[in-house]
Amino acid sequence: MRDTKESEKLLAHNKKYIPGGVVSVNRAVPPNIAFARGEGAKIWDVDGNEYLDYHAAFAPHFLGHNDPYVTEAVIKVLRDHASLFGSGTTEMEGRLAEMICEHVPAAESVQMLNTGSEATYQALRLARALTGRNHIIRMQGGYNGWHNDVACNLMTPLSEIGPRVSPGEYPFKPISAGIPPEHQRLVHSINFNDLDSVRYVCEKYSVAALITEPILQNIGIVKPEPGYLSGLRELADELGFVLIFDEVKTGFRHSIGGYASIANVVPDLVVFGKALANGYPIAVLAGRRDMMDRFVDPSPARRVLLAGTYNAHPVPTAAAIATLERLLMNDGEVYRHTETLGEAIQQGMEEIIQAMGISGTVARQGSAFCLYFMDHCPTDWHDLAIHHDFETDLAFRKLLIDRGIYVFPQATKQCSVSAAHTASDIELTLKQMEKALAQAVTAAEGKVS
Ligand SMILES: Cc1ncc(COP(=O)(O)O)c(C=O)c1O
Repeated sequence: MRDTKESEKLLAHNKKYIPGGVVSVNRAVPPNIAFARGEGAKIWDVDGNEYLDYHAAFAPHFLGHNDPYVTEAVIKVLRDHASLFGSGTTEMEGRLAEMICEHVPAAESVQMLNTGSEATYQALRLARALTGRNHIIRMQGGYNGWHNDVACNLMTPLSEIGPRVSPGEYPFKPISAGIPPEHQRLVHSINFNDLDSVRYVCEKYSVAALITEPILQNIGIVKPEPGYLSGLRELADELGFVLIFDEVKTGFRHSIGGYASIANVVPDLVVFGKALANGYPIAVLAGRRDMMDRFVDPSPARRVLLAGTYNAHPVPTAAAIATLERLLMNDGEVYRHTETLGEAIQQGMEEIIQAMGISGTVARQGSAFCLYFMDHCPTDWHDLAIHHDFETDLAFRKLLIDRGIYVFPQATKQCSVSAAHTASDIELTLKQMEKALAQAVTAAEGKVS
């Protein structure tokens, strides 16, 4: 067991001033570890313990912590006395928008916000304004932020939503108190990879938008089946709803053009955050110019309000430009490196699982992976909820943390390799995984017998 006395002390102190002692409540997970420093693939806690990091702060650190190139760009804007002026445009926001339009097929025009939640909120509001409709479709097992339209039906126990229905929808199960029932009835959660339910909901309600992560990456790595994303595109064209891809987690991590460019499907609107600026707070809403122009429609009745004191603040904007420059360097070397490491970790884990006779599957897209304790890759939340061994998953994660490999201690959470990881980091990780897995499985067998 690692010594975490200082972490415990800090948490007890912070509890006096912060509810629960931790901001952003999803960070409050046992074991309580207070981190103090991050560099490259490593993070250190306040007790001085070192960890190889695969959590990446819920995935933004695709280049690794404090990437020197990005840090330099941030220091430079501060040294140059760039500031937040809050009036008029800036050279930097234009440069970032241009880079995104150049590389993201769906991006004809770009707006900038601070967080993924703000961006998905604006995307949905824009879709309602464009269509004059109010209902939205989202995915059971998807996460698109904290606001009223989407704060629901994530890892919902099947006892609350019942067995899979197709075509059909699931009852609204909030993940936050305070969402008015009138609002809840506008939101329809269906399963990922289920086109029939999209049509079903659209025939019952007047649907403004469908929002989905192109890969469900808040319950591991749940990939679209062949034809699913293009099927959504066809249904959007036929039924008139706005197709929104939430690429907050997939965007820039899997490709400079977003996962949509890999899938070769162009949504109407797309949202980015996280890896866009390698850990600095900025998000982007991009899409069809005719749609995005609603933010500047001359008619006040048609115009959608998009405003924010800190939007395109120079620090995160500089970080985003530098991150994109890094991603483009040497013809996409970052992607080749992370793919090689991702492949190595997947192969290594598969060998370990096989040798140990464990029922497990590694799902992976590039640098993002998840070990499921089930015999196939899940296709939706129901598949996962029915087949995955959540208890062993959590035990495995906690044992890895004890061994200096930091993965988020919550079952099914995505693990992320960064450009700063090395082949020897992966080798070390696999050795620790083998030991942790053996312990987790022995403990699980002990419970059963
Ligand atoms: C797919 C997806 N969309 C939206 C969000 C919300 O982003 P933020 O936490 O920056 O508000 C997240 C956050 O994890 C996410 O994973």
